[in-house]
Amino acid sequence: MRILMIGDIVGKPGRKIVLDGLAAIRQHHAVDVVIANAENSADGSGLMPDHYKKLIDAGVDCITMGDHVYRRRDIYDTLESSSDIIKPANYPTESPGRGATVITAPNGQPVGVINIQGRVFMKPVDCPFQAVDRELKSMPAGVKVIIVDFHAEATSDMQTMGRYLDGRVSAVLGTHTHVATADEQVFPGGTAFQCDVGMTGPHESILGRRIDRVTETTTTFRPVAFAVASGDVRLHGSLVDINTTDGTATAIERLAVRRAEVDQWLAEDHS
Ligand SMILES: [Fe+2]
Ligand SMILES: [Fe+2]
Repeated sequence: MRILMIGDIVGKPGRKIVLDGLAAIRQHHAVDVVIANAENSADGSGLMPDHYKKLIDAGVDCITMGDHVYRRRDIYDTLESSSDIIKPANYPTESPGRGATVITAPNGQPVGVINIQGRVFMKPVDCPFQAVDRELKSMPAGVKVIIVDFHAEATSDMQTMGRYLDGRVSAVLGTHTHVATADEQVFPGGTAFQCDVGMTGPHESILGRRIDRVTETTTTFRPVAFAVASGDVRLHGSLVDINTTDGTATAIERLAVRRAEVDQWLAEDHS
């Protein structure tokens, strides 16, 4: 089974490259299941219900979130009522949404997905290690393929989580930093790992936001709106091959698709 994990979708440019390109990507790369982090989809912060619906309709099988999950109140109901969207499991039990889910791949295989948030250089949250243990314990028996989206800032935090879960899950894939790391590997216990799978959005930017705006606030301390940038839109993610009999990963590969490639596919389709 091949899983594609799409990194943080930022704003309209990020949503659009997913909506326009995912069908072709699924086909070209023989992808069975698509998971996408969508915490920055709504103008760079949060997710709106219509974005959620469009991403699911476009072929995303499960949406994960992160520290921006509650920026739009409109999504609370979706988080409570839908089993294909999850938020970090180490949030208070009263917080809207679930921290893990089991989706069904097109071949009928169950795929567990867990969302966890790091606590190094981030807002304090409950222990991510205890939370992931809890979620793994409550995974239904028979779920061999399990993907963890560890939404974290520090590479040390990421690597510790990856090693902690080696041999217990199929993949530990990072989101949140919006920068893809070149450390993809399969650990000795059979867990695929990458500190961060990257950002899906405008790369002529600072983490997806306009360079001038971020620079102004950073250099003068004058707050300005961090509008989403527009240039050099790319879809970043990672492809993980998994042996479905025991859930171990056999390969991991970075994926980077540029907007121009998607436009070319669309033009070919219509010609
Ligand atoms: Fe993000
Ligand atoms: Fe984040």
